[in-house]
Amino acid sequence: MKKRYAVCGVSNRAIGMFIGPMLKTFSQHAELVGLLDVDPRRHEVCKTKFPETASVPEYGESDFDLMVKETKPDVIIVTGRDDTHARYIIKALEHDLDVMTEKPMATTGADCRRIMDAEARSKGKVTVTFNYRYSPIHTRIKEMILEGKVGRVTSIDLNWYIDTYHGASYFKRWNRIREISGGLSIHKSSHHFDLVNWWTGQKPVEAFAFGALNYYGPNGELNPKKEDGRFCGTCDVKQDCEYFTRWSTRSKDVAVKDDHLGTVQTGEKGGYTGYRPDMCIYDSEINIEDTYTATVRYDQGALLSYSVNFSLPYEGYRLAINGTKGRIETTEYHMPNRIPFPIPEQQTIEYYPLFGSKEIIHVVMREGGHGGGDPVLLEDIFLGPDPKRKYAILSGSQDGAYSIGTGEAVWRSVKEGRPVKIEDVLQVK
Ligand SMILES: NC(=O)c1ccc[n+]([C@@H]2O[C@H](COP(=O)([O-])OP(=O)(O)OC[C@H]3O[C@@H](n4cnc5c(N)ncnc54)[C@H](O)[C@@H]3O)[C@@H](O)[C@H]2O)c1
Repeated sequence: MKKRYAVCGVSNRAIGMFIGPMLKTFSQHAELVGLLDVDPRRHEVCKTKFPETASVPEYGESDFDLMVKETKPDVIIVTGRDDTHARYIIKALEHDLDVMTEKPMATTGADCRRIMDAEARSKGKVTVTFNYRYSPIHTRIKEMILEGKVGRVTSIDLNWYIDTYHGASYFKRWNRIREISGGLSIHKSSHHFDLVNWWTGQKPVEAFAFGALNYYGPNGELNPKKEDGRFCGTCDVKQDCEYFTRWSTRSKDVAVKDDHLGTVQTGEKGGYTGYRPDMCIYDSEINIEDTYTATVRYDQGALLSYSVNFSLPYEGYRLAINGTKGRIETTEYHMPNRIPFPIPEQQTIEYYPLFGSKEIIHVVMREGGHGGGDPVLLEDIFLGPDPKRKYAILSGSQDGAYSIGTGEAVWRSVKEGRPVKIEDVLQVK
């Protein structure tokens, strides 16, 4: 029997990741029964892209109860702006409905607590769609740790690099306001903290961090003019802006493939009402950081040394996982179409036993977003978890909460200059 899905937040991600596949690949298993968004233009964007959704009923921000009554969904997909996640997750749980939510599950530890408490009272269950877990390199690392190749994990080095195109996109969009996105230590780093939690099977206990706004905001060194309220599409000094001219010439946008960023370079095409995703990266309303370093301690003794930077010449990460029996190492390059230098053709995992011969693992990659992770995640969501997989990979609300708890502890530590306990952030009783 087909499951009935209603979508709260008809975002780019909702349309590309969930609605499209629901209509095409999973149409035997899933039915889209309702669309809810604060902005009617988003319903229009969805219906223009997928004319087969023309008759799907549309609901506004305060119509959740009405939508449930009229469309009788089995599952609510939560894919709007991050600050809207908690309210729709909690409402869905109050109706005893299952929830699939995009990361981050919420923007604060306090909202994670409200969600976990609501779930405890509900017949509904929360799943957080952490697609990074599904990339073939990441699942292989998980398997190697489960096979015992590193022993007990003792330390992790993770340095994440976001390129100038992707990094700038967060400062052009709603993500740049902490109250809306939680800041990048939650909005983005929660992905990375979740990977570490999942790989190691350990819970984060305490974080200490530094952070800064170095590249964006009014004091960004490359700001061509101190003036608020500009948009890339209409900016009179865009030819003096390195972040703009890197990807556009005077007469046209350079075609840059990016599955989920869409038109951030000149977002004037009008996909939203009263909001443009090409706001100036140097505006003074920006109140988040673009650079962090953090140390995190885990409950079984692992220590994480983490950094992230949102304005770099190429995108990817460097990872090392050390344990009592060996070491795993990998370097990933993302978005090769945006990297102007030669990079290795195939990405590998290197394994060094503490004593013995090194192994190089050539991981089989797959088609699709996020290193081939997105399509496999979708199969688990719409067809049910793969019965052949021997370990849990879909995340529940607790994993969602610990990734956010770590992100908030990092930000609080930056602000307060002291180590912050993750369970204090999550109000664990
Ligand atoms: N896992 C991933 O790799 C990945 C990638 C991209 C985005 N995401 C997540 O997907 C979500 C959407 O991101 P996006 O960049 O596609 O967003 P977007 O800017 O395209 O859309 C945000 C949507 O939220 C809607 N919205 C705002 N306030 C609302 C309210 N009160 N009620 C209902 N809807 C409201 C807006 O109208 C808009 O349709 C975010 O949570 C983001 O973190 C995840």
